[in-house]
Amino acid sequence: MAVTASSVIISAMVFFMVFQLQYEAIHSYTPVHYIVGDEDGWDLPITGASWSNGKKFYAGDVLEFKYERGTDVSVVDQEAFDNCAVNDKSIEYNDGDTNLTLAFGANYFICSRPLICQAGLKLAINATAPPPSV
Ligand SMILES: *[C@@H]1O[C@H](CO)[C@@H](O)[C@H](O)[C@H]1NC(C)=O
Ligand SMILES: *[C@@H]1O[C@H](CO)[C@@H](O)[C@H](O)[C@H]1NC(C)=O
Repeated sequence: MAVTASSVIISAMVFFMVFQLQYEAIHSYTPVHYIVGDEDGWDLPITGASWSNGKKFYAGDVLEFKYERGTDVSVVDQEAFDNCAVNDKSIEYNDGDTNLTLAFGANYFICSRPLICQAGLKLAINATAPPPSV
C-alpha cells in the first residue's frame, strides 16, 4: 500500500516535470530577427525567392523590411501574391522600415507595384511552430 502510494506520487512528479520541461521548451523559443535581403534590403535585384531559399522560418520570427521611400511592402493574401496585384485585403506599409511578425502558416508579402512584384519582389513563407529548444 505504501509502495503503491509512493509510486503514484513519483509518477505524478515525473509527469509534472516532463510537462514543465515541455512547457518551457515551447515558451523559450527566441524569435529570429531577419533583415529581408540582408544588406541589400527589400529591393531588386534581390528576389524574395532567392533570399528565403534554404531558410527555415518559425511563427513569431520577425522580418524587417528596409526599402526606399516611394516603394512599399504589402501584406497580402495568396491571390494578390499570385497575381502581383494588391486587393482590398492587402495592408501596405511605406515608411521605409517595417518589422512584421510571421504568423503560423502561409505569409505573403509583395511590392504593390506590379512590374516590380513580377520581377521577383515578392516573398512567400510558410512559418511552422517554433522548435523545442535544446
Ligand atoms: C525593427 O526592429 C529592429 C530590431 O529590433 C529595430 O532595430 C528597428 O528599429 C525596428 N524598426 C522599426 C521601424 O520599428
Ligand atoms: C505554403 O503552404 C501552402 C499550403 O500547403 C502551399 O499552397 C504553398 O505553396 C506553400 N508556400 C510556400 C512558400 O511553401
